[in-house]
Amino acid sequence: MQIVRTIADMRAIVADWRAAGLKVGLVPTMGALHEGHLTLVRAALDKCDRVIATIFVNPKQFGENEDFGTYPRTESDDAAKLEQAGGHLLFAPDVIEMYGEDGGVTKVSVGGLGNILEGEFRPGFFDGVATVVTKLLLQALPDYAFFGEKDYQQLNVIKRFVADLNIAVTIEGVATVREADGLAMSSRNAYLNREEREIAPVLYQTISEVSERFKVGGKAEALSKWAAQQLLDAGFHKVDYVSIRHGDDLACEAKKGEPIRVLAAAQLGKARLIDNVA
Ligand code: PAJ
Repeated sequence: MQIVRTIADMRAIVADWRAAGLKVGLVPTMGALHEGHLTLVRAALDKCDRVIATIFVNPKQFGENEDFGTYPRTESDDAAKLEQAGGHLLFAPDVIEMYGEDGGVTKVSVGGLGNILEGEFRPGFFDGVATVVTKLLLQALPDYAFFGEKDYQQLNVIKRFVADLNIAVTIEGVATVREADGLAMSSRNAYLNREEREIAPVLYQTISEVSERFKVGGKAEALSKWAAQQLLDAGFHKVDYVSIRHGDDLACEAKKGEPIRVLAAAQLGKARLIDNVA
């Protein structure tokens, strides 16, 4: 597997692949790779002849009091895992290569969808994600790009700006990969101490139960309140939201008989955990 750090180097390689008629898949990440990320790489290998993984801890999607400085950076381990999984190219630019000396002034923003749920608690987060993912798509021009349902709102946001901006790429969502006890894999799980790690699966258990109860007639508002209390009782320190939404358009309320998604975010020690279920 080749590692490149400039847009020009990546483009030259992709141009050769395209000239040879090969299908190209892109898997954007911020590194600290786990089985969730590697599942995206394998999904990409199923559909594409060549797979590019990117590692870039994107400063524009971190708030001032968030963990940009301490986000785990483990590039050599990550490269070994990608190679083992069958990835063909790792693109790992630095901040100047990505945004230029002046940081860039152009933003991609998806309006209301970017301001609810995660966007309400992390102002600017989805602008940062949409901007960097747009850049990665334009830099690599892949046929397909792969994103996890773990970050369900992020996947919705990406599908929305790709459609609105007519970017010629197919966005594929990949099911959430979980630990044996149900906890969704996440690079931020590394922030949990042993006691918190035992509490963490309650997030998935609780939203799964909300989903079951909603199906048999439970009311959304009452279920959200109940779930928040369950999480606090289990030892979570703060619940940002437990929300039942329309599965295709998170800006809409959930309606019986249509696809629904239960989404939640809560703080446990130093980790802010998010998860969702159908
Ligand atoms: P990161 O958190 O590193 O995640 C990279 C990709 O892996 C995302 O598409 C995410 O949804 C997916 N992923 C993470 N955990 C997963 C799991 N347990 N199961 C399945 N997929 C999982 O998300 C980002 O980085 C960034 O916001 C990024 C899109 C790279 C833009 O900077």
